[in-house]
Amino acid sequence: PLVTSKEMLLKAQKEGYAVGAFNAENMEMVKAIIEAAEELKAPVMIQTTPSTVKYGTVETYAALVAAEAKKASVPVCLHLDHGSSFELAMQAIHAGYTSVMIDGSKFDFEENIALTKKVADVARALDIPCEAELGKVGGKEDDLEAEADTNTDPQEAKEFAERTGVTSLAVAIGTAHGFYAGTPVLDTERVSEIRQMVEVPLVLHGASGLSDDQVRECVKRGMCKVNFATELRDAYSKAVKETFAENENTIDPKAYGKAAIKAVKELVMYRMKVCGCDGKA
Ligand code: 13P
Ligand code: ZN
Ligand code: NA
Repeated sequence: PLVTSKEMLLKAQKEGYAVGAFNAENMEMVKAIIEAAEELKAPVMIQTTPSTVKYGTVETYAALVAAEAKKASVPVCLHLDHGSSFELAMQAIHAGYTSVMIDGSKFDFEENIALTKKVADVARALDIPCEAELGKVGGKEDDLEAEADTNTDPQEAKEFAERTGVTSLAVAIGTAHGFYAGTPVLDTERVSEIRQMVEVPLVLHGASGLSDDQVRECVKRGMCKVNFATELRDAYSKAVKETFAENENTIDPKAYGKAAIKAVKELVMYRMKVCGCDGKA
């Protein structure tokens, strides 16, 4: 069924694993993610960014995920990823999203708090969990390009979480959106430090390109939600290209759609196991 992210993240925090959160662009990706969750009996979060909901609409994705989640035995949450404004967060909730992120990380500390609190207050009244971000995750996610990455300060994270009332917090520890040019250097010690100061579940962004051990280390130290986007798009597109390489006369979208679903499903199952959420539904 379609559920909020509240219980799945608190359960993950309590039991020491992370829920995988996977970005979807279309029906094939939604199906692949839910099939993976079903097969592994894992709770799952499907998320869409502002550019994705501009490609479709929040209503498009809400209807799609609601229809697919209804058939599932595992808990499925639909989350707005990197929500860019109060208005978009409200539109998503109104359309049926069961979790939202408001990303004010490009603003200074006080402005980030003001924007985040505004969204978190309304979300709480509507019983919808709210994620926010403090510190800067590197790379380019959507239209948001972060400058030289600034990792999250544990003391600031504590103050931020308390003053905003968010239910989960994305923190910067050296990851970046997209694939990495070299080997990413993560400040995993910082995850433990933040975990000691902050009560709400912590979120790791930019997980595409991290090694299994890096993800496991972050989860062990307190990350309760891990976001994967680029890897899924890559697997999807490679599968479509392979279909055409095998038969350039393919004309049925279902043919390459099925190949894409299979590739994305396999990747999601693999990443779920790394996060340790398999069997936790
Ligand atoms: P990647 O594209 O690096 O997996 O980052 C995903 C993410 O953080 C989505 O918010
Ligand atoms: Zn992100
Ligand atoms: Na990444």
